[in-house]
Amino acid sequence: MIPNVDNDSLVYLNGERVRLGDAKVSVLDRGFIFGDGVYDVVPAYNGKPLRMDAHLARLERSLAAIGIANPMTRAEWEALVLAMIGDSGLGDCMAYIQVTRGVARRDHGFPQGVEPTVFCMVSPFKRPDAALRGQGLSAVAAPDLRWLRCDIKSVSLLGNVLARQMAVEAGVDDVIQFRDSHLTEGSAANIWVVRDGTLLAPPRGHLILEGIRYGLMEELARECEIPFLARPIPEAEVALADEILLTSATKEVLPITRYNGQPVGQGVPGPVYTRLRAAYDAVIAAL
Ligand code: PDD
Repeated sequence: MIPNVDNDSLVYLNGERVRLGDAKVSVLDRGFIFGDGVYDVVPAYNGKPLRMDAHLARLERSLAAIGIANPMTRAEWEALVLAMIGDSGLGDCMAYIQVTRGVARRDHGFPQGVEPTVFCMVSPFKRPDAALRGQGLSAVAAPDLRWLRCDIKSVSLLGNVLARQMAVEAGVDDVIQFRDSHLTEGSAANIWVVRDGTLLAPPRGHLILEGIRYGLMEELARECEIPFLARPIPEAEVALADEILLTSATKEVLPITRYNGQPVGQGVPGPVYTRLRAAYDAVIAAL
């Protein structure tokens, strides 16, 4: 019995459906031994995935970046994710997909002739409620201790895990990470800054994961006629932000209203957040 999960729910593991409580991977799986694998998280509303194409394209990029041959075609991935979501009977949920390099004798170099381990599970997804949206999140600054390929959605998440735990121990919702005194991202989310009505984000590149909401927020900003600029954001500028926003598949779009123990702007969700939030809700409603 694994605590706090639905042990009876069916997951996909290497071509088979098995109970989550019974799903087993070898101790020599390179995901376990080396963190040698990639993953993605696709949110779905009322059983309908949001931007599944973009998520699967990112999974393909992550696999290519670490030299794992994609075990499935795009159409097969789509069919798997849709079937898993459909079979789960869940409305608002997320599909978690993971591919590792497979099982082999422990040796750092890539093994030959090994099949990747492919895993998919669907879990219920509790959408941020009105209270959370109204109140916003709290965050503190943290040094970005991660490697230089944060654009790969790798299962090697130790840096992210330690960052989130720092937030837990500080009694806040998340950290805002900085590398060389410049904003990178949250522990599992992208971070946005609003200054003088302009929405700012750190540039795409190796230092952040390009969230599927990165491109989506860009589109929504255009639609809402909010100026958008991707550029390096110094730490000092974050402290002076009028608004700070956080986006991820599971947190959607949320305001950060307290940063390092101080209110952000007026300490309440700001006007840029409010417009982008409404636009994001409209995208979900149109699914
Ligand atoms: N995390 N940056 C990091 C480090 C992330 O882990 C995530 C998502 C994002 C936002 O990406 P997207 O908008 O595609 O969710 C940015 C997922 C949700 C997770 O690890 O559970």
